[in-house]
Amino acid sequence: MKLKAIEWHNNKVKFIDQTKLPEKLEFVETDNYLVIEEAIKNLRIRGAPAIGIAGAFGVVLAIRQYSGSDKKEFLKFFIEKIINTFRNTRPTAKNLFWALDRIKKSVYENRELSIENIKEIVLKEALDIYKEDENISKKIGENGAKILKDSSTVLTHCNTGFLVTAGIGTALGIIYTAVEQGKKIKVFADETRPLLQGARLTVWELMNRGIDVTLICDNMAAFVMKKGLVDYVLVGADRIATNGDTANKIGTYNLAVLCEKHKIPFFVAAPYSTFDFDIKNGDDIKIEERKPEEVKCSYGRYIAPRKAKVFNPAFDITPNNLITGFITEVGIFYPPYGNWENLKKP
Ligand code: MRU
Repeated sequence: MKLKAIEWHNNKVKFIDQTKLPEKLEFVETDNYLVIEEAIKNLRIRGAPAIGIAGAFGVVLAIRQYSGSDKKEFLKFFIEKIINTFRNTRPTAKNLFWALDRIKKSVYENRELSIENIKEIVLKEALDIYKEDENISKKIGENGAKILKDSSTVLTHCNTGFLVTAGIGTALGIIYTAVEQGKKIKVFADETRPLLQGARLTVWELMNRGIDVTLICDNMAAFVMKKGLVDYVLVGADRIATNGDTANKIGTYNLAVLCEKHKIPFFVAAPYSTFDFDIKNGDDIKIEERKPEEVKCSYGRYIAPRKAKVFNPAFDITPNNLITGFITEVGIFYPPYGNWENLKKP
């Protein structure tokens, strides 16, 4: 049986608690939307597409709890309150806002129907988002695998595999697809401080699939590149502006700068739902700042003075001029960036 990071199961949301990995593979099943809200905030469910799916399922759970019969109240207060609850979980990943807008639109387009019918329509919309995402990650994998040469080595950052989508993932999905096609691909995984998504999740995913992965600390990437050990860098994205500036896990920008220096192709893999055509460039992307303890504590204890001042942005922006190409479900986009017409009409 294929593992799923998140799914709709017996009228509940079932997800892997990613904070427990790699030590424990623990599933949570819930019909309480507040559990989903907490899970997104605390990265039990994480990664841009998965956050969008979780937000959509969270709204489904919430409106199922509504037992009143006042349509106006249902529409105006309940839906908007619930949608706002999820909008306020994490600010950077566009996929979350995209999914919530899509759910909201489906409700308003069907507002003449009964409350029970609207509940069914919201569930259908959330399941559509899920199925589409599964298919999209397959296509990203196929499109990206074309650029990976046999016997090559990819360096990746954070976690972009099955844990972040309904399917095989984005950047890691490309590696899975290339390996399935018979190519020999080796991977360097950045540990990805402070929350170690690379060490905990990417290495776990790749080892489970029997893929040759080597863990490095984030500050080793330059040395590994200098030694000529990296052929490509593949990363995911949380939000991409119209000009191609890209928000992704903190440390991604470092890699892009290093790639320019060492003449290594730097590709971003992302679905349509990560693109934000309402903003011109990266300056308009809101970067989430998380609590200082994430940086000050590790190995279950303080690793810095308790009162140390900390700056903890969860994401950074890679400027478009450092990006070799965007691997999407409709193909690969190369510079100059700005014309995304094909992507808008998949
Ligand atoms: O804070 P996280 O773990 O949710 O951050 C995830 C990332 O930065 C991923 O690289 C990004 O969401 C792309 S995954 C398709």
